[in-house]
Amino acid sequence: MSGPRKILLLPGDGIGAEVSNQVELVMDWLAKNLGFSYDVKTEDIGGASYDKYGTPLTDEVLNDALESDAILFGAVGGPRWDEVERELRPEAGLLRLRKELDLFANLRPAIVFESLAEASSLKKELISGLNIMIVRELTSGCYFGEPRGIDVMPDGTRRGFDTEVYTETEITRVGKVAFELARKRQRKVHSVEKANVMESGVFWREIMTSLQNEEGQDIELQHMYADNCAMQLVREPKQFDVIVTNNLFGDLLSDCAAMLTGSLGMLPSASLGEIDKDKKRRALYEPVHGSAPDIAGKDIANPIAMLLSLAMMLRYSFAEEKNAMLIESSIKNVLSGGYRTKDISQPGMEIVSTKKMGNLVIQELDKLI
Ligand code: IPM
Ligand code: MG
Repeated sequence: MSGPRKILLLPGDGIGAEVSNQVELVMDWLAKNLGFSYDVKTEDIGGASYDKYGTPLTDEVLNDALESDAILFGAVGGPRWDEVERELRPEAGLLRLRKELDLFANLRPAIVFESLAEASSLKKELISGLNIMIVRELTSGCYFGEPRGIDVMPDGTRRGFDTEVYTETEITRVGKVAFELARKRQRKVHSVEKANVMESGVFWREIMTSLQNEEGQDIELQHMYADNCAMQLVREPKQFDVIVTNNLFGDLLSDCAAMLTGSLGMLPSASLGEIDKDKKRRALYEPVHGSAPDIAGKDIANPIAMLLSLAMMLRYSFAEEKNAMLIESSIKNVLSGGYRTKDISQPGMEIVSTKKMGNLVIQELDKLI
């Protein structure tokens, strides 16, 4: 890639700003020590943007997003904007960004950090060594399907409705991403839907089956109903390698998987678009945890999910596997050293602030190079 990478940083609301500060410090470190050349532009999104401009995503920021090589996203939302109408709520900014950039493949790894395995609500032996990749379709399904609305029927009864809809192309392209990822892992894919109840589920299953026949003979594909998948995730999570599913089921199952790792404050995600003719793809990297308004501004939030999102950016947008692993190793070492932010605190460990955690990661980076 020629010239500095154009990175758009969107801290957003709640703890988004604090964790973003730590990411900036690590990017500075990368620039100074490893020649990582980038231009970073910081802009408002979500509630922060609504308060200033009356919209959760301005056209200017959308344009910057379209022109960037990668986006680092903090978090959006908070009770402060509960009364705002749906189209202008902080979440609407994020949804529009996903849609306009066509970020259809949402990668949500659920990984257990060994030093945190005790923190899971499940028994340690069930989750120790767990490494699942959930691929959630992100730009279709009932999140965007039409018609949707709340109206009054002829007899005067009010009703609310959404539309669950998937085209063949939408299923195929996300299925391909899941197969591609599985090839670098255990080649096992669970495709998750409700084909026992929903037409769109029957169709999803049919398209995934053809995809495997056509180009996935090397993949072990299993179909699973979404309710069973939720149950299996808490019963025997290690049976999964890659899970591919629609937007809504992916939203639910990824929260479930994230929580059972005991490391919710630790998990990053990537939202990716199609690879274009120049081998580039649009991409947004974001911690799985939300804006956590209750602890915002107190310097106690865990910056690790955001730092791991930076590592994912290096891996998926810039093919810098070595540097991605460097960040990941530093974080592991800091945790093994007995340092914890409050959310992952354990008896006998030192509780550190957001800033201190960022600092420790940088000290560890210094040691590793
Ligand atoms: C997520 C969140 C979002 C979603 C919200 C904030 C719109 O829950 O990224 O999982 O439902 O997709
Ligand atoms: Mg969610």
